[in-house]
Amino acid sequence: MESGDGRGAEVNWAAIRQDFPALATLARGKPLAYLDNAATSQKPAAVIERMRRYWVEENANVHRGVHYRSQLATAAYEGTRVKVQRFLNANSVNEIVFTKGCTEAINLVAHGLAAKGIIRSGSSVLVSTLEHHSNIVPWQLVAERVGAHVLPIPVSDAGELDLDAYRAMFQSAEVAVVAVGHVSNALGTINPVKEIARVAQEQGALVVVDGAQAGPHIAIDVQDLGADFYTLSCHKMYAPTGVGVLYGKLALLNSLPPYQGGGDMIRTVSFDGSTFADSPARFEAGTPNIAGVVGLGETIDYLTCLAGGPVDSRESLVEAMAAVAKREDELYNRTRAEIADIPGINVYGDVPHKASVLSFTTDWAHPHDIGTVLDSHGVAVRTGHHCCQPLMTRYAIAATVRASLSFYNDEADISAFGKAMHVAREMFK
Ligand code: ALA
Repeated sequence: MESGDGRGAEVNWAAIRQDFPALATLARGKPLAYLDNAATSQKPAAVIERMRRYWVEENANVHRGVHYRSQLATAAYEGTRVKVQRFLNANSVNEIVFTKGCTEAINLVAHGLAAKGIIRSGSSVLVSTLEHHSNIVPWQLVAERVGAHVLPIPVSDAGELDLDAYRAMFQSAEVAVVAVGHVSNALGTINPVKEIARVAQEQGALVVVDGAQAGPHIAIDVQDLGADFYTLSCHKMYAPTGVGVLYGKLALLNSLPPYQGGGDMIRTVSFDGSTFADSPARFEAGTPNIAGVVGLGETIDYLTCLAGGPVDSRESLVEAMAAVAKREDELYNRTRAEIADIPGINVYGDVPHKASVLSFTTDWAHPHDIGTVLDSHGVAVRTGHHCCQPLMTRYAIAATVRASLSFYNDEADISAFGKAMHVAREMFK
């Protein structure tokens, strides 16, 4: 396929890199080697420009005006919903709810399922030991309120979920919900969410998948996965901060009580009581992050066309994400190879089926000290517990160094990382 810019089916990754102005900047006087993509991604110029155009030419409130600008803003905002439906292969556009982030999306579901009595006294929510705090703490908050339990699915030494132990948990607990991440932010391991969902639903439990780290790396098909709810963190997938997505099966969404009250989420309001709109308006009280959602729409277009395919095609997106996964796999292997000859490195989650996250400790320095040396060479990584304290406890460590790669990283980034790691080794050995 040809996109018209000559990229064609063989993706020109060097040209793609030029689409991201942040990557041409310096950090501490050195060329930036941005390897903190799991924390947040850099943004393509097209997305930055689309948001500028929104502010200048379209800014108005959505769903609230007959005037020209309000209609432009509403069309752009609702247009993104259609793009997200295609991005996730959801059955209906009404299954797509915009939130302020992935965390809010999970809190919304946890709150709704508890308010509806699905999570109730004596019942359990299974989460995995790999989870980010945002897929643990919301469940703990509602569990505490209603007298339910939050139980961890064990993880192996290699960083994979123990599926036998998971299946066995249904024998000893009344499981209401299974909430798991699709891709681990701390290790990059990809969980078998389709199988997890199949087992849960066979046992009558609902399935919530935290897709925060999957969105940037793999094509997601919520119908194929069978998840009841699926969440996205859009700033990790090249879109602006302040936007998240909640996907839910329509009947389930419409059966949940609203999360917040306010404008736009109602059908009628009187002092005798109010009635509520159906999804998605039911969960979008108040003026939303319109500019952010418009930026998200442009991001989905950008990703869809990455391998040269047409903009409005799911097939094109799937092809692009396959190219992204292949590219990131190669970058991961090259990054791993850069530090292979350094003694005393312990890599976590180094399994074949994973996203491009290299998480490690060393026998010779604290992760924060390594992060500081890398930073002085312009290399941005995250060090710490990555909001995964239970996982760190599982491996009896306090922190790791995490280099997380995007398709836009290149040989120079990886070699800067490798050189800085060798400097760190010399310094601390
Ligand atoms: N959840 C993001 C990370 O893993 C912030 O770094």
